[in-house]
Amino acid sequence: MHPPYSKLHANSFGPDFQWGVAIAAAQNEGAYHIDGRGLSIWDIFSRRQGKIKGGVKPYEACDFYHRYKDDLLLTKALGFNVFRFSFSWSRILPEGTGRINKEGIAFYHKLIDECLALGLIPYVTLYHWDLPYELEKNGGWTSHQMLKWFSRYVNVCAEEFGHKIKNWIILNEPMGFTSLGYMLGKHAPGKIGLKNFLPAVHNAALCQAEGGRIIRSLVQKAHIGTSFSCSEVMPYSQKEDDILAAKRTDALLNRLFIEPALGRGYPQEENFPLLEKIHMHNKAWKYTERMKFNFDFIGIQNYFATTVKYNALIPYVHASEVKASSRNVPYTAMGWEINADSFHRMIKRYWLYGGVKEIIISESGAAFKDHLLNGEIKDENRIDYFQQYISAVLKAKKEGVNIKGYFAWTLTDNFEWSEGFDARFGLIHIDFKTQLRTVKNSGYWFRDLLKNK
Ligand code: BGC
Repeated sequence: MHPPYSKLHANSFGPDFQWGVAIAAAQNEGAYHIDGRGLSIWDIFSRRQGKIKGGVKPYEACDFYHRYKDDLLLTKALGFNVFRFSFSWSRILPEGTGRINKEGIAFYHKLIDECLALGLIPYVTLYHWDLPYELEKNGGWTSHQMLKWFSRYVNVCAEEFGHKIKNWIILNEPMGFTSLGYMLGKHAPGKIGLKNFLPAVHNAALCQAEGGRIIRSLVQKAHIGTSFSCSEVMPYSQKEDDILAAKRTDALLNRLFIEPALGRGYPQEENFPLLEKIHMHNKAWKYTERMKFNFDFIGIQNYFATTVKYNALIPYVHASEVKASSRNVPYTAMGWEINADSFHRMIKRYWLYGGVKEIIISESGAAFKDHLLNGEIKDENRIDYFQQYISAVLKAKKEGVNIKGYFAWTLTDNFEWSEGFDARFGLIHIDFKTQLRTVKNSGYWFRDLLKNK
């Protein structure tokens, strides 16, 4: 345990602070071809050889579709009062546009009703990376039709669920899905290169704001946010080349989506041709107003701090990561540096942008190799992680940041994208053969933390 972070009381966060867990449709629901659901890009991508660790598919995942009642009861039993989940676009509109799937709509009504009956405040994410495959066939996020497709989907969701759900997160980590899915090819749909990345970024920046506007116009008293990944980027040395490499990486990882949302247009950084190219999509600042939306809150998701050095061989950004394992710093099973001070600095930085009204930590958590022994999982490393990261939130709150909630990632072990079922982030262990759930000690740690709140 790390001394400055060892004593935590939920009361210190105040009575209105929201404590939640977060999950996502593609990672949890399963039931991929049941009740009229269309295919998503992840169903198709996972069929490609070598793309997912262990060759597994997300078809069943955690079977949340059938077990949601149990999972919500567990959420409640651990003391949380918020449940964040995402809609599966292809369950609602199997072809992505056009016909509505009544059974998909019915499922989400049941899920939301169950949350409300248990006193769990639902937060819904409209897009957590699982584009309908039918839309991908027509270009997906690279297509200029995306804005039209997304608007229709958001309209359907707002009209169906707006009277029950007040908390909306438009996109989950746009930098995550555009870079991994449309630049590096590591995530679905597996596209690579700037010719895919740049239009995907531009369409996502537009959809992010447009989604906000649609919810605002159709849902009374909506509380609207969007979520950003962020990672502090340190230069490996004080050499100028390394410092510039860190600045370029920072512009991509931390500025590319929040700055347009705040009305500043895309970030400006001297001598960075990639950014100049994205500005070409916004010639004469034509879209600056349309990429802007007055969000009620922003969701911050910080999974690692990173260190980079200059590398001429890496295209565009000319930077490469210096792995945590080679730097004598603590790291998770994903190889991600654990650094709660850096998390605290990122919260402060986003707050100080100006124009951010409220912050919610919409995901935070870590994967470790868990060992189930005599029915118990002693995940002390995860408990230590949460202690440090939640203490960093408290510190920022005491320093005046309007921070309103902390949502742990994630309730149960789930389908961790290209890591398959290998990387376990849950507070609850899942045996993926039997779907048996076992609360980890970190889950009980939350229960104790939250019991007197
Ligand atoms: C994503 C989650 C993912 C987590 C851990 C976040 O960026 O929103 O879907 O499971 O990172 O990789």
